[in-house]
Amino acid sequence: MTIHSILVTGGAGYIGSHTCVALIEAGYVPLVLDNLSNSNPAVLGRVQRITGTRPQFIEGDVRDGALLTRVFAEHSVAAVIHFAGLKAVGESVQQPLAYYDNNVHGTLSLLQAMHGARVNKLIFSSSATVYGDPASVPICEDFPRSATNPYGRSKLIIEDVLADLHYAQPDWHIARLRYFNPVGAHASGLIGEDPQGIPNNLMPYITQVAIGRLDKLRIFGGDWPTPDGTGVRDYIHVMDLAEGHVAALAHLLQQPGMFTVNLGSGQGYSVLQMVQAFSRACARELPYEIVERRPGDIAACWADPGAAQALLGWCARRGLEDICIDAWRWQQGNPVGFARG
Ligand code: NAD
Ligand code: WQD
Repeated sequence: MTIHSILVTGGAGYIGSHTCVALIEAGYVPLVLDNLSNSNPAVLGRVQRITGTRPQFIEGDVRDGALLTRVFAEHSVAAVIHFAGLKAVGESVQQPLAYYDNNVHGTLSLLQAMHGARVNKLIFSSSATVYGDPASVPICEDFPRSATNPYGRSKLIIEDVLADLHYAQPDWHIARLRYFNPVGAHASGLIGEDPQGIPNNLMPYITQVAIGRLDKLRIFGGDWPTPDGTGVRDYIHVMDLAEGHVAALAHLLQQPGMFTVNLGSGQGYSVLQMVQAFSRACARELPYEIVERRPGDIAACWADPGAAQALLGWCARRGLEDICIDAWRWQQGNPVGFARG
């Protein structure tokens, strides 16, 4: 019997590894391709401990067209979930070419190999960053898109490439999933977010303050036009996000077309609310100071998740308490991430 795999590019990363768990639990066979530029292969053993199945792993780069051609020749790939890419906004301002190369060129290379292998089903990791600074919240999929940095622009460009591809070849099946702020960890505490160096994002920063790796949180701005003056975001549990991919895949496999949905919880929380919720989970006060706004930040951003619910029957099921408890379990069990895990 031929086994049909789901090729998961970037599958050793934060969202990719959690999605591998959700895929295996839903009966799919993930095939991970990752260049390990921002991940650790130890994650594969952790996925095996959770699910009983070790995902097959190919160490390689999505920009390597010859490798991709071999992968598609050697495996029966039913669909591709494309997580691979670089994601740090500030770094993208400093290194735009690396971002356009990994994200845009990487995606073009993948699409060309898929075309050559007659694989035409793709889920793409887009981002709420494509909404720029939204005129209002909650954000619907038809809101105007804009970019203020090369990372965001790379996502906009890829979204447009996919729309053009679908226009030219309507038999493609394409999902563009716009994630809001993925946080938390698998409830086992075996996999989670493992940023290299000082975290850029709020949640891993908070967990590292709680474990004592960092001395205090710096809150970027206390004068935003929000109820408590700190920035408001839509934090979505990474396992809810992972299950959103399984729902999108089930839909995608059924029928051709392109769809674009927000994957968010629909709920906004401020930085101070996040600090308070995490303090409850870890049973300690977290030191913080309010400092200048971070350049490029916006006041508030949360999703209208209604389209994903209507189209995919998916909505976020885990709340802020689950997010904090799971993130804390991961951080406590793996104080230095996968490095010595
Ligand atoms: P991550 O860095 O943990 O995972 C990305 C994985 O891709 C890593 O394992 C990395 O080694 C790999 N990779 C990078 N470039 C590659 C290349 N050229 N070839 C092969 N592998 C490569 O990031 P994540 O948080 O899991 O994000 C996954 C995707 O979701 C990214 O496309 C990101 O832009 C998007 N996204 C993330 C967030 C977020 O806040 N985490 C929000 C919205 C969208
Ligand atoms: C959240 C809130 C900060 C760190 C980024 C990308 C976005 C998407 C998700 C990929 C904001 C505040 C943060 C800190 C703080 N990624 N904060 N102190 O900026 O909403 O989104 O990740 O697509 O594109 O821009 O997430 O976690 O960095 O910040 O006060 O040390 O926490 O100002 O209000 P953001 P974040």
